[in-house]
Amino acid sequence: MNHDDIDLTGSKVLVVDDTPANMDVLRGILEEQGYRIFAAPSGEVALKIAPRTLPDIILLDVMMPGIDGLETCRMLKKDPVTKDIPIIFVSAKTDIQDIIDGFKVGAVDYINKPIRREEVLVRVHTHLEIVALFKAQEKLSQVLAQKNAELIETQQQLVQSEKMASLGTLTAGVAHEINNPNNFVNVSAQNLAFDVKQLNKFIVALAGDKADEVVLASFREQFTPLYRHVSTIKEGSDRIKNIVQDLRAFSQLDSFSKKIVDVGECLQSTVNLVKTNFLKVAVFDCRFGTDISLFCYPAQLNQVFINLIINACDAIRLKQQQQLLAKESEIVLGKVIISCNKKENNMIITVTDNGCGMDEITKNKLYEPFYTTKDVGEGSGLGLSISYGIVQKHNGELKVESVLGEGSCFTLTLPFEE
Ligand SMILES: Nc1ncnc2c1ncn2[C@@H]1O[C@H](COP(=O)(O)OP(=O)(O)OP(=O)(O)O)[C@@H](O)[C@H]1O
Ligand SMILES: [Mg+2]
Repeated sequence: MNHDDIDLTGSKVLVVDDTPANMDVLRGILEEQGYRIFAAPSGEVALKIAPRTLPDIILLDVMMPGIDGLETCRMLKKDPVTKDIPIIFVSAKTDIQDIIDGFKVGAVDYINKPIRREEVLVRVHTHLEIVALFKAQEKLSQVLAQKNAELIETQQQLVQSEKMASLGTLTAGVAHEINNPNNFVNVSAQNLAFDVKQLNKFIVALAGDKADEVVLASFREQFTPLYRHVSTIKEGSDRIKNIVQDLRAFSQLDSFSKKIVDVGECLQSTVNLVKTNFLKVAVFDCRFGTDISLFCYPAQLNQVFINLIINACDAIRLKQQQQLLAKESEIVLGKVIISCNKKENNMIITVTDNGCGMDEITKNKLYEPFYTTKDVGEGSGLGLSISYGIVQKHNGELKVESVLGEGSCFTLTLPFEE
């Protein structure tokens, strides 16, 4: 900021002097400059006026009856409200010791009486300018800090969405590449199962009706593992199929049509589905507002709901298992609260649990595909990454608050379309 840019007109000046003639001279000089003058005939009055008017500067006479200037200055500097206001002593005392005493109690300058107009103007102007510059700098620092925080947040969002976008492309490619060969395996496994059955029948038929029971038993012994192997191949391939489906949903290759649905109904049906598996783990508390319809991809939103609710139940079950292992006397009564309400232009859905909560590492990696803290075979780590993609497709936001050992709350914000 250039000094010429600073407009000091209207600056508040408190003049403290017990001599009316001095007061008049100072008032005349300062009012000419467009300053607003507050007058105090004594230290006592100054101490009352200063905190109320918060002047930009104080001109303080040293020798006054009652509380003198030095004491008034000391008290003003003690008060947190007035301590930063610059004080200039105005005095007929010209001893160097008097001036030093003035600076010691916190004054910023010293003007000698008799008052010289030019001197008063230059000194007052300089200190008002310093105050104005200081305030401007403070404001600038605040703006800078705020802009910096905004920048960091935008950067984080950018990194997150870029990461998700490239993961989307990658997983779409992987899903496609796995899908085709897995289809061969799946169909071949079905054919193989049929062929093995046929071969079994054929061999039994060849042996004839009068075949020895020992021979038939040995056939069974030979075929049993064959059936088992074929069914293992089929099961594995089915699992790959499901994962591929999840990956496709995550990368949003399949776009089902958009519809208006009652989100409460979607949530309720999801709760019903999940509930049966977790009857002994938690109770479910649904708190839905009225008029909660949304234009959305319902099948995909359901997927988000199911992921969030199952995760909540898993977290509670884990906490209960930990408590059992630690032989704690009280096992937590699991509770999952699902709420859905309209707020301004958004639908706000929350899923809150009193489960195990999560640490900082998990919070940071939550939406990464394949990140899981669950045991092998218990979680693929895709649930939240898929959900994240779906929420983005709805221009929404998914946020989490969690305290380790206490529980978590996922908040899903979905905007209504204009
Ligand atoms: N409500 C919750 N409370 C505590 N931890 C959670 C919660 N929700 C998610 N997490 C943590 O985030 C991890 C990732 O969740 P995500 O749903 O993506 O995968 P997952 O549940 O492990 O596996 P799946 O693919 O079967 O959903 C979980 O393993 C768990 O550590
Ligand atoms: Mg999950």
